[in-house]
Amino acid sequence: MGEPYLIGEAMTGGYGTGADILQGCTIAVERGEIAVIVGPNGAGKSTAMKAVFGMLNLREGSVRLAGEDITQLSPQDRVAKGMGFVPQTQNIFGSMTVEENLEMGAFIRRDDFRGTLAQVYDLFPILKEKRYQAAGELSGGQRQQVAVGRALMTQPRVLMLDEPTAGVSPIVMDELFDRIIEVARSGISILMVEQNARQALEIADKGYVLVQGANAFTDTGRALLANPDVRRSFLGG
Ligand SMILES: Nc1ncnc2c1ncn2[C@@H]1O[C@H](COP(=O)(O)OP(=O)(O)OP(=O)(O)O)[C@@H](O)[C@H]1O
Ligand SMILES: [Mg+2]
Repeated sequence: MGEPYLIGEAMTGGYGTGADILQGCTIAVERGEIAVIVGPNGAGKSTAMKAVFGMLNLREGSVRLAGEDITQLSPQDRVAKGMGFVPQTQNIFGSMTVEENLEMGAFIRRDDFRGTLAQVYDLFPILKEKRYQAAGELSGGQRQQVAVGRALMTQPRVLMLDEPTAGVSPIVMDELFDRIIEVARSGISILMVEQNARQALEIADKGYVLVQGANAFTDTGRALLANPDVRRSFLGG
Protein backbone atom coordinates (compact mmCIF):
# COMPACT_ATOMS: atom_id res chain seq x y z
CA MET A 1 0.00 0.00 0.00
CA GLY A 2 1.33 3.43 -0.93
CA GLU A 3 0.64 6.74 0.66
CA PRO A 4 -3.09 7.66 0.88
CA TYR A 5 -4.16 10.58 -1.30
CA LEU A 6 -4.89 12.73 1.76
CA ILE A 7 -3.74 11.96 5.28
CA GLY A 8 -3.78 13.79 8.59
CA GLU A 9 -1.31 11.69 10.54
CA ALA A 10 -0.82 11.53 14.31
CA MET A 11 -2.48 14.92 14.70
CA THR A 12 -2.24 16.49 18.15
CA GLY A 13 -3.52 19.97 18.91
CA GLY A 14 -6.39 22.14 20.07
CA TYR A 15 -7.84 25.62 19.82
CA GLY A 16 -5.56 28.55 20.56
CA THR A 17 -3.66 27.95 23.77
CA GLY A 18 -6.31 25.54 25.08
CA ALA A 19 -5.84 21.88 25.91
CA ASP A 20 -5.22 19.36 23.13
CA ILE A 21 -8.47 18.13 21.59
CA LEU A 22 -6.81 15.82 19.08
CA GLN A 23 -4.60 13.19 20.68
CA GLY A 24 -2.52 11.61 17.95
CA CYS A 25 -5.48 11.22 15.63
CA THR A 26 -4.99 9.85 12.11
CA ILE A 27 -7.51 10.07 9.25
CA ALA A 28 -6.94 9.44 5.58
CA VAL A 29 -8.70 8.88 2.29
CA GLU A 30 -7.57 7.16 -0.88
CA ARG A 31 -8.13 8.48 -4.40
CA GLY A 32 -11.77 8.24 -5.45
CA GLU A 33 -12.76 6.50 -2.21
CA ILE A 34 -15.18 7.42 0.58
CA ALA A 35 -13.82 7.64 4.13
CA VAL A 36 -16.24 8.22 6.99
CA ILE A 37 -15.54 9.51 10.50
CA VAL A 38 -18.02 8.64 13.23
CA GLY A 39 -18.01 8.92 17.01
CA PRO A 40 -19.85 10.50 19.93
CA ASN A 41 -20.64 14.21 20.22
CA GLY A 42 -17.54 16.12 21.28
CA ALA A 43 -15.16 13.36 20.16
CA GLY A 44 -13.26 15.85 18.01
CA LYS A 45 -14.59 14.86 14.58
CA SER A 46 -15.09 18.45 13.40
CA THR A 47 -11.79 19.44 14.99
CA ALA A 48 -10.02 16.70 13.03
CA MET A 49 -11.61 17.96 9.81
CA LYS A 50 -10.56 21.53 10.59
CA ALA A 51 -7.03 20.31 11.29
CA VAL A 52 -6.85 18.54 7.94
CA PHE A 53 -8.14 21.69 6.23
CA GLY A 54 -5.64 23.94 8.01
CA MET A 55 -7.95 25.75 10.41
CA LEU A 56 -6.11 24.51 13.49
CA ASN A 57 -2.43 24.72 14.42
CA LEU A 58 -1.14 21.23 15.04
CA ARG A 59 1.34 20.79 17.87
CA GLU A 60 2.36 17.42 16.48
CA GLY A 61 1.65 15.41 13.38
CA SER A 62 1.33 16.35 9.74
CA VAL A 63 -1.08 16.63 6.84
CA ARG A 64 -0.04 15.35 3.42
CA LEU A 65 -1.81 15.62 0.09
CA ALA A 66 -0.65 13.53 -2.86
CA GLY A 67 2.64 12.96 -1.05
CA GLU A 68 3.26 16.66 -0.35
CA ASP A 69 3.52 17.97 3.20
CA ILE A 70 0.88 20.72 3.45
CA THR A 71 0.87 21.07 7.25
CA GLN A 72 1.89 24.73 7.07
CA LEU A 73 -0.48 25.79 4.29
CA SER A 74 -3.47 28.10 4.88
CA PRO A 75 -6.96 26.79 4.07
CA GLN A 76 -7.03 28.97 0.94
CA ASP A 77 -3.75 27.47 -0.27
CA ARG A 78 -5.20 24.01 0.36
CA VAL A 79 -8.19 24.91 -1.83
CA ALA A 80 -5.73 25.89 -4.55
CA LYS A 81 -4.15 22.43 -4.13
CA GLY A 82 -7.49 20.71 -4.73
CA MET A 83 -9.21 20.48 -1.36
CA GLY A 84 -12.86 21.43 -0.77
CA PHE A 85 -14.48 21.69 2.65
CA VAL A 86 -18.11 21.95 3.73
CA PRO A 87 -18.16 22.88 7.44
CA GLN A 88 -20.79 21.56 9.85
CA THR A 89 -22.44 24.98 10.39
CA GLN A 90 -22.78 28.27 8.53
CA ASN A 91 -21.86 26.64 5.26
CA ILE A 92 -23.97 28.89 2.98
CA PHE A 93 -24.89 32.56 2.67
CA GLY A 94 -28.61 32.57 3.45
CA SER A 95 -29.39 36.03 2.06
CA MET A 96 -27.68 35.34 -1.25
CA THR A 97 -29.32 33.39 -4.05
CA VAL A 98 -28.48 29.77 -4.78
CA GLU A 99 -26.55 30.79 -7.88
CA GLU A 100 -24.64 33.54 -6.08
CA ASN A 101 -23.62 30.96 -3.46
CA LEU A 102 -22.31 28.67 -6.19
CA GLU A 103 -20.50 31.54 -7.91
CA MET A 104 -18.92 32.49 -4.58
CA GLY A 105 -17.65 28.91 -4.42
CA ALA A 106 -15.63 29.58 -7.55
CA PHE A 107 -13.87 32.56 -5.92
CA ILE A 108 -10.43 31.13 -6.49
CA ARG A 109 -10.90 30.44 -10.19
CA ARG A 110 -9.76 32.74 -12.97
CA ASP A 111 -11.12 30.56 -15.79
CA ASP A 112 -14.66 30.10 -17.08
CA PHE A 113 -16.60 28.14 -14.46
CA ARG A 114 -19.93 27.90 -16.28
CA GLY A 115 -19.26 24.26 -17.18
CA THR A 116 -18.80 23.39 -13.51
CA LEU A 117 -21.98 25.29 -12.64
CA ALA A 118 -23.85 23.18 -15.22
CA GLN A 119 -22.36 20.02 -13.66
CA VAL A 120 -23.55 21.06 -10.20
CA TYR A 121 -27.04 21.70 -11.60
CA ASP A 122 -26.97 18.25 -13.26
CA LEU A 123 -26.04 16.69 -9.92
CA PHE A 124 -28.66 18.71 -7.99
CA PRO A 125 -31.48 19.64 -10.42
CA ILE A 126 -33.54 21.33 -7.68
CA LEU A 127 -30.79 23.94 -7.34
CA LYS A 128 -31.20 24.93 -10.97
CA GLU A 129 -34.93 25.31 -10.43
CA LYS A 130 -34.31 27.52 -7.38
CA ARG A 131 -31.21 29.31 -8.61
CA TYR A 132 -32.64 32.83 -8.17
CA GLN A 133 -34.12 32.11 -4.73
CA ALA A 134 -32.39 33.13 -1.49
CA ALA A 135 -30.52 30.07 -0.22
CA GLY A 136 -31.86 30.70 3.29
CA GLU A 137 -35.40 30.01 2.07
CA LEU A 138 -34.56 26.45 1.00
CA SER A 139 -35.26 23.26 2.95
CA GLY A 140 -32.50 21.73 5.08
CA GLY A 141 -31.68 19.10 2.48
CA GLN A 142 -31.62 21.67 -0.32
CA ARG A 143 -29.35 23.96 1.69
CA GLN A 144 -26.93 21.07 2.14
CA GLN A 145 -26.98 20.59 -1.63
CA VAL A 146 -26.05 24.27 -2.02
CA ALA A 147 -23.17 23.80 0.43
CA VAL A 148 -21.86 20.70 -1.36
CA GLY A 149 -22.35 22.33 -4.76
CA ARG A 150 -20.49 25.42 -3.61
CA ALA A 151 -17.50 23.30 -2.58
CA LEU A 152 -17.56 21.50 -5.94
CA MET A 153 -17.21 24.81 -7.79
CA THR A 154 -13.42 24.83 -7.27
CA GLN A 155 -13.23 21.37 -8.92
CA PRO A 156 -11.64 19.76 -5.86
CA ARG A 157 -9.78 16.46 -5.98
CA VAL A 158 -10.92 15.75 -2.42
CA LEU A 159 -14.16 16.89 -0.84
CA MET A 160 -14.45 17.11 2.95
CA LEU A 161 -17.99 17.10 4.36
CA ASP A 162 -18.84 17.65 8.02
CA GLU A 163 -22.27 16.09 8.65
CA PRO A 164 -23.79 16.68 5.22
CA THR A 165 -27.05 14.99 6.26
CA ALA A 166 -27.55 16.79 9.58
CA GLY A 167 -31.21 17.48 10.25
CA VAL A 168 -32.64 15.93 7.09
CA SER A 169 -35.22 13.13 6.76
CA PRO A 170 -34.12 9.53 6.07
CA ILE A 171 -35.28 9.80 2.45
CA VAL A 172 -33.33 13.00 1.86
CA MET A 173 -30.34 11.43 3.60
CA ASP A 174 -30.44 8.48 1.17
CA GLU A 175 -30.63 10.87 -1.78
CA LEU A 176 -27.69 12.92 -0.51
CA PHE A 177 -25.64 9.76 0.02
CA ASP A 178 -26.46 8.68 -3.56
CA ARG A 179 -25.19 12.02 -4.86
CA ILE A 180 -22.05 11.73 -2.72
CA ILE A 181 -21.40 8.25 -4.16
CA GLU A 182 -21.83 9.76 -7.62
CA VAL A 183 -19.24 12.43 -6.81
CA ALA A 184 -16.82 9.75 -5.56
CA ARG A 185 -17.33 7.69 -8.72
CA SER A 186 -16.27 10.72 -10.75
CA GLY A 187 -12.87 10.33 -9.08
CA ILE A 188 -13.17 12.82 -6.22
CA SER A 189 -12.12 11.50 -2.81
CA ILE A 190 -14.70 12.01 -0.06
CA LEU A 191 -13.77 12.48 3.59
CA MET A 192 -16.90 12.95 5.67
CA VAL A 193 -18.11 13.09 9.24
CA GLU A 194 -21.50 11.51 9.82
CA GLN A 195 -23.97 11.29 12.68
CA ASN A 196 -25.93 8.64 10.76
CA ALA A 197 -23.14 6.20 11.47
CA ARG A 198 -24.69 2.97 10.26
CA GLN A 199 -25.88 4.32 6.91
CA ALA A 200 -22.63 6.20 6.32
CA LEU A 201 -20.46 3.15 7.07
CA GLU A 202 -22.52 1.21 4.54
CA ILE A 203 -21.21 3.47 1.78
CA ALA A 204 -17.71 3.86 3.26
CA ASP A 205 -14.61 2.24 1.84
CA LYS A 206 -12.86 3.16 5.08
CA GLY A 207 -14.27 4.08 8.48
CA TYR A 208 -12.81 5.83 11.52
CA VAL A 209 -14.35 5.75 14.97
CA LEU A 210 -12.99 8.66 17.01
CA VAL A 211 -13.27 8.86 20.79
CA GLN A 212 -11.79 11.71 22.84
CA GLY A 213 -9.62 12.92 19.99
CA ALA A 214 -8.06 9.53 19.27
CA ASN A 215 -8.70 6.62 16.92
CA ALA A 216 -10.75 3.95 18.69
CA PHE A 217 -11.39 1.76 15.62
CA THR A 218 -10.20 1.95 12.01
CA ASP A 219 -11.28 -0.53 9.35
CA THR A 220 -13.31 -0.93 6.21
CA GLY A 221 -16.90 0.29 6.55
CA ARG A 222 -18.10 -3.28 6.22
CA ALA A 223 -15.79 -4.60 8.94
CA LEU A 224 -16.77 -1.84 11.38
CA LEU A 225 -20.46 -2.61 10.79
CA ALA A 226 -19.75 -6.25 11.62
CA ASN A 227 -17.58 -5.52 14.68
CA PRO A 228 -19.56 -6.38 17.87
CA ASP A 229 -17.70 -3.79 19.99
CA VAL A 230 -18.35 -1.03 17.46
CA ARG A 231 -21.98 -2.08 17.12
CA ARG A 232 -22.59 -2.14 20.86
CA SER A 233 -20.85 1.14 21.66
CA PHE A 234 -21.46 3.30 18.58
CA LEU A 235 -24.21 1.84 16.41
CA GLY A 236 -26.89 1.13 18.98
CA GLY A 237 -26.41 -2.66 19.05
N1 LIG B 1 -13.84 26.84 18.48
C1 LIG B 1 -13.57 26.11 19.57
N2 LIG B 1 -12.85 26.60 20.60
C2 LIG B 1 -12.55 25.85 21.68
N3 LIG B 1 -12.95 24.57 21.85
C3 LIG B 1 -13.68 24.01 20.87
C4 LIG B 1 -14.03 24.75 19.68
N4 LIG B 1 -14.75 23.92 18.89
C5 LIG B 1 -14.85 22.75 19.53
N5 LIG B 1 -14.20 22.81 20.72
C6 LIG B 1 -14.08 21.69 21.68
O1 LIG B 1 -13.42 20.61 21.07
C7 LIG B 1 -14.00 19.36 21.47
C8 LIG B 1 -14.38 18.57 20.24
O2 LIG B 1 -15.39 19.29 19.54
P1 LIG B 1 -15.79 18.91 18.05
O3 LIG B 1 -16.72 19.97 17.57
O4 LIG B 1 -14.59 18.63 17.26
O5 LIG B 1 -16.57 17.54 18.29
P2 LIG B 1 -17.46 16.69 17.28
O6 LIG B 1 -16.98 15.28 17.41
O7 LIG B 1 -17.44 17.30 15.95
O8 LIG B 1 -18.91 16.78 17.95
P3 LIG B 1 -20.37 16.83 17.27
O9 LIG B 1 -20.75 15.39 17.00
O10 LIG B 1 -21.23 17.41 18.35
O11 LIG B 1 -20.32 17.68 16.03
C9 LIG B 1 -15.17 19.71 22.39
O12 LIG B 1 -14.75 19.54 23.72
C10 LIG B 1 -15.45 21.16 22.08
O13 LIG B 1 -15.93 21.82 23.21
MG1 LIG C 1 -18.89 18.11 14.74
